[in-house]
Amino acid sequence: MTKQKVGFTETVLRDASQSLIATRLSFDKMEPVLSKIDQAGYYSAECWGGATFDVCLRYLNEDPWERLRKLRAAMPNTKLQMLLRGQNILGYKHYSDDVVRRFVKASVRNGIDIIRIFDALNDLENLKVAVDAALEAGAIASGTISYTTSPVHTIEAYVKMVEELKSMGVQTICIKDMAGILTPQNAYDLVSGIKAAVDLPLVVHTHSTTGTAFMTYMKAVEAGADVIDTAIGPMSGGTSQPATETLAIALKEMGYQIDLDTKILFELADYFKAVRGEYLEDGTLNPISMGTDAACLEHQIPGGMLSNLLSQLKMMNALDKYEEALKETPRVRKDMGYPPLVTPTSQIIGNQAVNNVLTGERYKNVSNEVKAYCRGEYGKTPAPIDPEILTKILGDEKPLEGRYADTLPTDVFEKAAEELGDIARCEEDVLTYIAFPQVAENFFKARKEAEEKVVTYSIKPMEE
Ligand code: CO
Repeated sequence: MTKQKVGFTETVLRDASQSLIATRLSFDKMEPVLSKIDQAGYYSAECWGGATFDVCLRYLNEDPWERLRKLRAAMPNTKLQMLLRGQNILGYKHYSDDVVRRFVKASVRNGIDIIRIFDALNDLENLKVAVDAALEAGAIASGTISYTTSPVHTIEAYVKMVEELKSMGVQTICIKDMAGILTPQNAYDLVSGIKAAVDLPLVVHTHSTTGTAFMTYMKAVEAGADVIDTAIGPMSGGTSQPATETLAIALKEMGYQIDLDTKILFELADYFKAVRGEYLEDGTLNPISMGTDAACLEHQIPGGMLSNLLSQLKMMNALDKYEEALKETPRVRKDMGYPPLVTPTSQIIGNQAVNNVLTGERYKNVSNEVKAYCRGEYGKTPAPIDPEILTKILGDEKPLEGRYADTLPTDVFEKAAEELGDIARCEEDVLTYIAFPQVAENFFKARKEAEEKVVTYSIKPMEE
């Protein structure tokens, strides 16, 4: 029996960097090897979206749209892929449909081919506008499951979700395991279940955090997965993805059709070895994040969330409550209807668990985010919220009936454009401002100042 073709998505430009070095990989650091990535034979290069947009503006003094155009120019043969938080776009709150549509269109216009669209609650109502806009713009919409485990997250429930995604028109399906909790056998069963139900290409995304990733991909591929997300060796492992070279060689040996050129992969690896060295030296890369921490398989709390819990407790001078907060987290998650723990629900649940432990009374002190969550502003929860707790939090207030995005003002774009005036030079600038107003303003100001400097310099030689 001939085995299927397995495509690879290289994550070094987005998720691997986001997971290991807080997304600090600047365009200058990527540029020397983009043509190599382009020639290596990847299914796609994940290179934009997620935290890259915010970090470009906030820390790297880069216009994210310009970065995307430069990536496009440098990699003409590879599909460029971005990660989109559905109705949250790249931020942490919901935006109106008009803004989502404009953002998706602009992403495609500037060079994106594949948009992986997910929602923290797996609420399809939060995915449909982004999916529709991606299809309209001619991109590949990848309908995504945020993977989690709970009594309501059965294979049947996931299959049902995938069927609905298919009817929305997505061209591929992605199982997104952001915490590395998808174990090999569960991956095999889930991929088999999905493959039996829909005939769409299936992408599997995991992290090496808990150490199962290589086995998880092997079992997923055995069950028929078509694409896997990997990171080039030196930027792989730990909180990142497993290594591209290793999987390419191993899967090829097993008879799968692999398009990757291992010679080019090793050249890429050499380059990133040096880059990794720099980040290790300046402390951006913490060697601990490259190790294995299997505890998450037991408590199911993602690594990023654990470090948040720790730093919050430290700030409150309450490190002695760590064990208690660790136990409280899954209880809060259960009360809240078992949301997958991914941005932004991971923060919402984690903060509330800390609040509950610190005040000594559960839900005495409730954050605005939890109130909004209970009102339905983040979407429909996988299971109902515990009714007693819902009443304690909302009182007489009734939760929302329909989509939260439908209650938002529809003239956000026009208003932002007006507010910005000449500061905004294109639609992309306005979208940047809507996504991250404060950061965008600082960025636009710095951009203007830099240009004025350039003008003075260029006038000077004229005096000669
Ligand atoms: Co990820």
